[in-house]
Amino acid sequence: MEALERAGEIIKSGGLVAFPTETVYGLGGNALDPQSSAKIYAAKGRPSDNPLIVHIAGMEDLYRIAENVPAPAERLAAECWPGPLTMIFEKKAIVPDETTGGLSTVAVRMPSDRIAALFIRAAGGFVAAPSANISGRPSPTKASHVAEDLGDRIDMIIDGGDSVIGLESTIVDCTREPFVILRPGYISAARLKEILGDVICDPARMTAKGDEAPKAPGMKYRHYAPKASLTIVEGSRENVIAAIRDLASEALSKGQKTAVLCSSETAPEYGGLHTLPLGSLSDEEEIAHSLFDTLRRLDDENIDAVFSESFGTENMGAAIMNRLLKAAGNKVIFIS
Ligand code: TXA
Ligand code: MG
Repeated sequence: MEALERAGEIIKSGGLVAFPTETVYGLGGNALDPQSSAKIYAAKGRPSDNPLIVHIAGMEDLYRIAENVPAPAERLAAECWPGPLTMIFEKKAIVPDETTGGLSTVAVRMPSDRIAALFIRAAGGFVAAPSANISGRPSPTKASHVAEDLGDRIDMIIDGGDSVIGLESTIVDCTREPFVILRPGYISAARLKEILGDVICDPARMTAKGDEAPKAPGMKYRHYAPKASLTIVEGSRENVIAAIRDLASEALSKGQKTAVLCSSETAPEYGGLHTLPLGSLSDEEEIAHSLFDTLRRLDDENIDAVFSESFGTENMGAAIMNRLLKAAGNKVIFIS
């Protein structure tokens, strides 16, 4: 509690603190202070047209920063907050343009992590926070990831252990009717449909390939990419394994340091190749949890070429594949 009080004081006096949440670690600053937001962009090396999520710890605080909160959004909040859901609303004037990248809307999330909630309260209630990684790198799911990227650029890191979920929140634009999913996450489209009746998830928008400018500006940037070239292989299980074995052997014969991202079930089928199993296909939470840490390991191990299975699991498959496709720069080989 003493450390959290100190962290809160740092935010109130304009400093930056990285803190744990159930999704990934956030890089926090005072959301109502334009200079704090400017500092966040500088520390991350992030373009300042890419808006920040404002983290709150109580429902009453939503109405201090958001205008015209529609009733279905209140239903979503009742079902999913605190938790891994970010909602976008029209912003009130109290939220500076620096925090929203010049947009007239504001993204708001109430995390369920206990340390996060205590920290947000200690910090005055409104903490602007992107994921606490250097722009373009995988999001941090451990305090050590944050230290690696930002250790010498920020005032404090609160170590709350591993992020339970390990993928960033689902983002829903509540300024449109019906609401639109801008980024898939732990809360699936099916769950949102259950609560809302109707929700649009436009894959073009999620992969930022549509003609329209992506509504979540962050989705247009290259992300999560390891230094290695990463290729995803899709198709039937047997064919994918055979294709990855061929591709990896070819890379090895060219002298490239090579790795395979796979499930724990298929790992034994890659013989002498260097496999990095993400988890069991029957445990998508394990796969989500280990994805970013494994992408960071590729860099630590100086891997040149990586071949990955795809992970189209039941609920979080969309979120897992969205991050993996970005890491691969959309490089996919389809095997019939
Ligand atoms: O789980 C999470 O959401 C984590 C933790 C720390 O809460 N935060 C996170 O923040 O992933 P960040 O900045 O890495 O990703 C936020 C995304 C970006 O793609 C940004 O463009 C989008 O949200 N975003 C923020 N405000 C927006 C707005 N007003 N309209 C549309 N998109 C917005
Ligand atoms: Mg991020």
